[in-house]
Amino acid sequence: MQKDGLPMPPHHFLFGHLFIVGKIMSRLPSDVHGHVLPRQILKSYPDLGPIFYIDTWPFGPPMLVVTSAHAANQFTVTHSLPKFATMRQYMQPMTGGMDLPTLEGREWKMWRTVFNPGFSTSHLMTMVPQMIKDVLTFAEILEQRAASAQVFSLDPLTINLTLDIIGRVTLDLVFNAQKQPNSFTSTLRSQIRWLLFGNEANLFQRWHPLRPIMTFWNSRQMLAFVGKEMDKRFLRNVAHSKPTTQAPRRSKTIIDLALDKYLSERNGNIGHETTMDATFKDAAICQIRTFLFAGHDTSSSTLCYCYHLLSLHTEIRDAVIKEHNSVLGPDIGQAASLLSEKPHLLNQLPYTSAIIKETLRLYPAASSTRQGEPGFNIVSPDGRLYPTSGLLIWSNHFAIHRNPDSWTTARRIPTAAMAAAEKEQRALQRRRQKRRLAGFRARAPQLHRTGTIHLGAQARAGHNPAEDSTSTAPTMNTTGYGVENLRRPWMEIGRIRF
Ligand code: HEM
Repeated sequence: MQKDGLPMPPHHFLFGHLFIVGKIMSRLPSDVHGHVLPRQILKSYPDLGPIFYIDTWPFGPPMLVVTSAHAANQFTVTHSLPKFATMRQYMQPMTGGMDLPTLEGREWKMWRTVFNPGFSTSHLMTMVPQMIKDVLTFAEILEQRAASAQVFSLDPLTINLTLDIIGRVTLDLVFNAQKQPNSFTSTLRSQIRWLLFGNEANLFQRWHPLRPIMTFWNSRQMLAFVGKEMDKRFLRNVAHSKPTTQAPRRSKTIIDLALDKYLSERNGNIGHETTMDATFKDAAICQIRTFLFAGHDTSSSTLCYCYHLLSLHTEIRDAVIKEHNSVLGPDIGQAASLLSEKPHLLNQLPYTSAIIKETLRLYPAASSTRQGEPGFNIVSPDGRLYPTSGLLIWSNHFAIHRNPDSWTTARRIPTAAMAAAEKEQRALQRRRQKRRLAGFRARAPQLHRTGTIHLGAQARAGHNPAEDSTSTAPTMNTTGYGVENLRRPWMEIGRIRF
């Protein structure tokens, strides 16, 4: 490949790129995530361009690393290559094997269709009041920690928070992991620590003698726990329900969506069954375990990065608080109950939303790996072909999100995110104007009185009432909040290492 002029760092005939990778990683903190590697290679070899080959034999398969959105689109969207086989081995001890991230074709589509309603915005809005209960616990714990004036790690707290939320969303269960040890969540966390992707350089970690025993044991525990919950739910919701040709409308938690599917496969009639068909049940348990796994770690690390970045940039943190005050009112004690009553208010926080998106850009919690195919080449904008056969293709979000081709300069908010925020802003204004007009018509006789109260409340929130009558733009407009400058301080501060 090197002889063919395909881009890669200098290749050693025996050790491939092992020394180069080792040297780069040795400059970084020992617990750094592998996601940062491609960008570090590009920093050392800037002429490589956004698509290049890496050979880490004997620790991992040969790779084609993709750090451009244009190229990633070709094998994940235009022609979706199969998921990388090792990913299945990695996920197996966690999910049991039948999981959405590694399924293909019809099977993937079938399960994806089953769970799609669980991701609908309208459904998620109905979950907000429950989620708020967990967030309140989180806030209480943070306050206690802050009062103790001791340094503490945020990660375990956000993990427990997201586990509590994911327990509700997936199993309709209260784990209460934030307040007390929970055997299921502890097993899940233990299993994550034993997972192996297969390219780990630490040989002890790679061939740890206890791994097979621990992963087997943890997997059994998780299977038993989720299986028991499914049986309970089945008996309560399905076996005791009257035969019907349609699945009854229950909640859209992941467990209920799986049961709906079971019922629909039997045309709503399960006869005298008191237990589920074992094959279906096994498959459903795998999917449920996937959600419990995929949903919490990603969200918890993103939360940590959000807080980290806000702590570094107090001017941005102040602007977030200003937006919250203007939408949720200045009394922080009322915010939770207000949001529980009116979850849609969450859609009126475009600046906060932009901060979360920007955090996800800078610190994406996941990436994607695919299996190359004979005859399938990635094509760069200048027409160069990159063969993929026999390779792990790594769409590396961390590097893609920092690629100057997509993010014109490191100092400007990306056009797409800006356009999305502005679109959101315009839609919000239209909705507000509509509501205001409707409210005005309905309350015309008492206008004077309500108008006065409203303006007073806004003034207390630090919002200029004069601006409110024409448009909410000064408060909601991302430009007004300086979103386009958001990245500058984050990139310039010099504390961000990568
Ligand atoms: C910040 C939060 C999150 C990030 C950054 C994230 C990222 C990703 C990425 C990059 C993929 C594609 C993986 C691949 O192509 O191999 C993915 C897939 C998936 N994620 Fe997430 N995720 C997040 C939160 C969640 C949550 C909260 C859930 C569930 C409640 C979830 C469930 C899934 C599932 C089921 C898939 C497989 C989807 C499919 O193949 O159809 N994720 N996620």
